[in-house]
Amino acid sequence: MGTIIVFANQKGGVGKTTTTVNLGAYLAEAGRRVLLVDFDPQGNLSSAVGASTDQPGIYEAITSGRSVQELTQTTSVERLSVVSSGINLTGANVELVDQPDREQFLKRSLEPVRDDYDFILIDCPPSLGILTLNGLVAADSVLIPLQCEYFAMEGLTQLLQSVKRVQASLNRDLGILGILFTMYDSRTRLAQDVVQEVIGYFGKRVFRTIIPRNVRLSEAPSHGIPVHQYDPDCVGARSYQKLSEEVLDRVKA
Ligand SMILES: Nc1ncnc2c1ncn2[C@@H]1O[C@H](COP(=O)(O)OP(=O)(O)OP(=O)(O)O)[C@@H](O)[C@H]1O
Ligand SMILES: [Mg+2]
Repeated sequence: MGTIIVFANQKGGVGKTTTTVNLGAYLAEAGRRVLLVDFDPQGNLSSAVGASTDQPGIYEAITSGRSVQELTQTTSVERLSVVSSGINLTGANVELVDQPDREQFLKRSLEPVRDDYDFILIDCPPSLGILTLNGLVAADSVLIPLQCEYFAMEGLTQLLQSVKRVQASLNRDLGILGILFTMYDSRTRLAQDVVQEVIGYFGKRVFRTIIPRNVRLSEAPSHGIPVHQYDPDCVGARSYQKLSEEVLDRVKA
């Protein structure tokens, strides 16, 4: 049965999508069967792997009960597939809110394909709304990308409260896979301070791998390919490869 990881942080632009794509690509490179789930109406994850956002995708799966299997698109990477999202997913916020089991829709949609993959990676929008809640309920563990800046800790506290609430009721087995520093700039004192503070507080929950700021990581999505196909030797690519090894170790443990 595949491991389901959700990538969440209500703060925008912290590297959720970049991490989902590139971690997924390296896990596929390492021989794992990986399904990416774009659960953000912005559709960034879909575009980043060259998938169409006009085609039926995760919205149709959760609202009209169509099978995820039938909606999956292939990517340029072997063993890496994606279920796209599109702007219609915005409507799910409103449509699900009155349903008694509104937090369970994604979980139910993914259940039938769990055995087809080693990893299912869910990319969330920047909010703690119903979509992210569905992600937390569907997942085995959450990976939290964190930008090394002053307000990082405050957002993290709020996110961890949501995780605790989900653990207390809807998904007792939800674990925290780890906190990942992204867009790290070693030249700034602030970035170093934030890293030290978060490590002091969360210790081993913080991934040893730190993702540096690297322009190649921001260029790759416009070509619709992960960074290991765009520029495999850049520092951003190498750091996501290291992260994939660390994730495989943590999942095994
Ligand atoms: N390590 C990095 N170095 C340089 N640029 C990066 C890095 N990681 C992400 N970016 C760029 O920063 C922007 C935000 O990243 P990304 O889209 O992954 O964040 P996000 O958390 O998914 O955003 P949103 O909350 O809007 O979904 C993008 O333009 C991306 O290409
Ligand atoms: Mg995103």
